[in-house]
Amino acid sequence: MASARWNPSTLPDLRDQSFLVTGSNAGLGYFASEQLARAGAHVILSGRNPRRLSSARSTLISRVPGADVESLMIDTSKAGSIRSAAATLRTRGPLDGVLLNAGIVHPPKERKTTTDGDELVLATNALGHYALAGELLVTLAKSAGRMVWLGSVSTVISPYDPVDPELTENYTPWRAYVQSKVVTTALGLEADRRLRDRGVPVDSVVVHPGYAIGGRTPALPGVNQPTHLTRFIGSLQTPIAESKEIAARVLVRALIDSGIPGGQFWGPRYTLRGDPRRVRVPRINRNIERNARIWEECEKLTRMRWPFGPASTY
Ligand SMILES: NC(=O)c1ccc[n+]([C@@H]2O[C@H](COP(=O)([O-])OP(=O)(O)OC[C@H]3O[C@@H](n4cnc5c(N)ncnc54)[C@H](OP(=O)(O)O)[C@@H]3O)[C@@H](O)[C@H]2O)c1
Repeated sequence: MASARWNPSTLPDLRDQSFLVTGSNAGLGYFASEQLARAGAHVILSGRNPRRLSSARSTLISRVPGADVESLMIDTSKAGSIRSAAATLRTRGPLDGVLLNAGIVHPPKERKTTTDGDELVLATNALGHYALAGELLVTLAKSAGRMVWLGSVSTVISPYDPVDPELTENYTPWRAYVQSKVVTTALGLEADRRLRDRGVPVDSVVVHPGYAIGGRTPALPGVNQPTHLTRFIGSLQTPIAESKEIAARVLVRALIDSGIPGGQFWGPRYTLRGDPRRVRVPRINRNIERNARIWEECEKLTRMRWPFGPASTY
């Protein structure tokens, strides 16, 4: 059972553990990486842009002297980038957890597709993480590790059923974002069901961070550099919004608290902000058949099936 005495500002000693974080050059991914590194973990920072990644790494090391971090390029919108990063990771040491955090939070006004031909927001936020987690499944199973997926409270406000996940019709930026998060949550929950069913020793947990904005987040070179206007708008939202540094606590807890079993959904106590706690799965993702249908759709779109058989031998 998850410990009731969990203190988000005093994490357990993580010196013998290793974690991969996607989209760790900014926002929640950066702060989750920093918190893990501060607790002694080996953290693999990943991102799609070498300059932004290097700048975040320097900032992290300046704030956590002696941090045990390395960098790896992963563009979650590109199947080739995911395959090549996973191949690199498989040759490295054990991996205890993967934080599937990277995401487009402000989708383009017009529908765009990736070089692989998929709708950009779905590909970046959901399909890429489905492929990455599948590529790393056996590695995670060797360490009885876990994967954490990023849902969003937006799926409660606008619970779109992704019957047309590629949004070939009726694309809007909001619909693209919400759909990608319904799909991500479905994947996280369905992964857990399939992992248990096949006896794979890996937990899959889904979290949502509430509402966390750069304007309420500490300014850090190369990571978060809000303008005066962004700060002002952030201050107006104080009652409802959190800093990304604080909001990252729920991601970190879901990744390292072995008392949280797979299949759970965690978020902030007061929906948009607050300490991490277990929360109800959004209604749209309570439908097991829909989650399974989304999983099968992602298998088709990525032309990839998870290696449950080999992973279940650990
Ligand atoms: N903040 C919130 O209130 C909130 C609420 C619900 C859910 N979420 C989820 O939490 C996650 C992080 O959000 P955030 O607020 O921290 O966003 P953010 O500050 O915009 O950071 C997003 C991160 O994802 C990276 N990214 C974007 N596209 C990528 C790609 N193709 N490949 C690899 N990395 C990519 C970004 O890298 P670049 O710098 O290269 O763009 C950045 O590092 C997202 O999945 C988001 O949907 C956030």
